[in-house]
Amino acid sequence: MINISKDQIKKLPKAELHLHIEGSLEPELMMKLAKRNNITLKYKNLSEIRAAYQFTSLQSFLDIYYEGAKVLMHEEDFFDLTWDYLLHCKDDNVVHSEIFFDPQTHTDRGIPFATVIHGLRRALDLGKKELGISSYLIMSFLRHLPEANAFKTLEQSLPFKDWIKGIGLDSSEVGHPPSKFTRVFEAARQHGFLSVAHAGEEGPPEYIWEALESLKIQRIDHGIRCLEDPKLAQHLTRKRIPLTVCPLSNVKLKVFQKLDDHNLKKLLDAGILATINSDDPAYFGGYLGENYFQCTKSLGLSMRDLKVLASNSFTASFLPPNEKAHWLKIIEHISA
Ligand code: HPA
Ligand code: ZN
Repeated sequence: MINISKDQIKKLPKAELHLHIEGSLEPELMMKLAKRNNITLKYKNLSEIRAAYQFTSLQSFLDIYYEGAKVLMHEEDFFDLTWDYLLHCKDDNVVHSEIFFDPQTHTDRGIPFATVIHGLRRALDLGKKELGISSYLIMSFLRHLPEANAFKTLEQSLPFKDWIKGIGLDSSEVGHPPSKFTRVFEAARQHGFLSVAHAGEEGPPEYIWEALESLKIQRIDHGIRCLEDPKLAQHLTRKRIPLTVCPLSNVKLKVFQKLDDHNLKKLLDAGILATINSDDPAYFGGYLGENYFQCTKSLGLSMRDLKVLASNSFTASFLPPNEKAHWLKIIEHISA
């Protein structure tokens, strides 16, 4: 039995590449913002909020996640949300984060794009200055909405282009294949955005192929169903296409019945550049350190495996080569 402590995990510098900032809204902050903004929530207290977090599928989670996001109204709210997440990063020794935000969740409620991004940006700048955490923003399109709405969001983002590293695709997967967004991804590419997409979380391996071939993305979010298609798995290995795997999320949303059944170790054994991430930590029961720790216990990961996973997180990131090399060297020198 391998016994790896939380402290050993903490010693590893880590990057997080799959984190929805709206999914880091803790019940306490949700209540506080509801009060501050005069919003009536469906829930009377913290225990009612927590009791609602019993999910049976991605959609059952998304319904509650969009409901919670309604308390975010002002720049200060987006600042508080992001700052709280960064404090968790500090605790877990997450030194770099590539953060999703869903503009449409807010602009569709009449909140200006500028309000959202100014709040996020101000917290991220402070995070760099006071906590030493670097970050990029990834603007995600909601795939259950039409491509025309994504085009509108892309247009709204252009004045803030320098603050946004890339685009992503999230929300309800099945029935909304990546190819629905081919043209908007092409347009975003021409503006210089990098791109990623959720694919193969609940959707089939064909969605992963489509995300690669139609959207021309640099890495895949989730992607765990790739092992159902050996040709695809081989392609991911050969081309070093990263997967941002979210183990606790997958269990909460019943993609795997329990963490012991998760295929993370199989992905690593197949030579795939897999990383560990927290997805929506306030809803799924743990930030990045907890995801590493629970996986270590349930999947019997060794310190060597953990070093590979931490290294993969930097290799798969959008950081420049010199910064990747800096962190990889530090990890290499941590004893196994
Ligand atoms: N999948 C799809 N959409 C999402 C997720 C997810 O895991 N989290 C927040 N939006
Ligand atoms: Zn996600």
